[in-house]
Amino acid sequence: MTDPAPYRNGLVTLDREVVLDSLTVQGRLPSWLEGTLIRNGPARFEGGERGYNHWFDGLAMLHAFTLAGGKVGYRNRFLRSNSFTEAEANGRISRSEFATDPCFPLFGRIMATFQPPVTDNANINVVKLAEGFAALTETPLPILFDPETLETLGVTDFQDDLKGAITTAHPHRDPETGALYSYLTEFSLTSTYHLYRLAAGSRTRERVASMQVERPAYMHSFAMTEQHLVLAEFPLVVNPVRLLTSGDPFIRNYRWDPERGTRFQLFDRKGQGHLGTWVGPPLFAFHHINAFVDREGAVVLDLAGYEDARIIDFLYLESLRRGDPDFPRPTTWRIRLHPDGETVERQVLSEQNVELPRVNESKVGRPYRYVWGTANRVPGHFTDELVKIDVTTGEAVSWYEEGCFPGEPVFVPTPEDDPSVGAGSRSRGGSVEGSPSAEGESWSSSARGEGAEDDGVLLSVVLDARASTSFLLVLNAATLEEEARATVPHALPLGFHGQFYGG
Ligand code: CO
Repeated sequence: MTDPAPYRNGLVTLDREVVLDSLTVQGRLPSWLEGTLIRNGPARFEGGERGYNHWFDGLAMLHAFTLAGGKVGYRNRFLRSNSFTEAEANGRISRSEFATDPCFPLFGRIMATFQPPVTDNANINVVKLAEGFAALTETPLPILFDPETLETLGVTDFQDDLKGAITTAHPHRDPETGALYSYLTEFSLTSTYHLYRLAAGSRTRERVASMQVERPAYMHSFAMTEQHLVLAEFPLVVNPVRLLTSGDPFIRNYRWDPERGTRFQLFDRKGQGHLGTWVGPPLFAFHHINAFVDREGAVVLDLAGYEDARIIDFLYLESLRRGDPDFPRPTTWRIRLHPDGETVERQVLSEQNVELPRVNESKVGRPYRYVWGTANRVPGHFTDELVKIDVTTGEAVSWYEEGCFPGEPVFVPTPEDDPSVGAGSRSRGGSVEGSPSAEGESWSSSARGEGAEDDGVLLSVVLDARASTSFLLVLNAATLEEEARATVPHALPLGFHGQFYGG
């Protein structure tokens, strides 16, 4: 019988921390590709005797792939968060994670009601802040680390008085100004979303808008256009009193309430506050793909959506390791918030499913053409391919190799001044005749000679389940043809998100 979960060895604890100066490289790395891909994800799935419940709970490990002079180096280190060091010191799970709580003795449970030990297990993403590089999770406790050694430098804080217990590990960076935008949820009897802006180089978050809410939604990411921030309140919501008193792990306090529909909350980025609420069909998503304002003035939101929030249940480790042919596939949806202030239009953008989506960073908030991501081909086989979708046509290309399970692909553009890149190869992605009616602006940048939107490479860490190894895969971002792979001689746990830092 076919193994229903052949990716299982990507969900096993990796305790070894190594420094490998030179991985075996097959193929040819582009000569311009110099820098470091830093990735984050769970790598220890137990605290003492007890296992964590959910894929999102595992203790954070940073992985760095350094590309220089045709060589690829690799190193990895656990993030020494309080969650990690306390679990090591106590020999047991010590902090409340996404779906796992410590087992409190009775007294501890009562005390915990008043002061829950909040996790700082920053296992989701990485970002560059004014003070340096930081690992992120959904509690607002960024942990600084050294990008070369991956050594943990400690929790950083901001110089302001914005409050909130929950945030997103997916801030948006404005491609023009470099400012980061994000949001916080402050829980109370009436809770508040605070949207904020963090100017490049600053440690002070400036409030863009706040909104009071009875039942805050679980939102792993949000959307940004050149003028707006958009919170998509999926109907997975929580009564904040329950969070404090139930004694259940964080996500178990949230309830699926489809009657609410999905409430799209539109905010002005320049300080005009809350602009309106559009109510659409109930759906759930972890990841927005991109958003922009179209020629009719509608706010367009693309996302990797699900009919409901059951995907969270399928990501419990027990379920994932067992495997399930009914594992939900996301749908690539386009949501349009009509300028009438009310109508929500939803269409399937492509028959191709996509998760862990990435776009060319220069296109964030603007009309765009391409999304890259992981996808599912064999039912139940989790993320078993990489795809590129042209959102103007719905057409897709993919990279697939049996027994291989790729992680989030990071797009790295070909540098402007690279002499080895001729005009011919630049026009690769932009050679289609004519201009799609609604996305005219996405074409003008190519016309200015800034390079096609898909001119570059994709970097993805792939688990080879057959060999029980992992490799850094370098694909031509336009065609998804393989350029090179660099193999780590053991399997790396399947991770979440990462960023490439050039130079
Ligand atoms: Co994410």
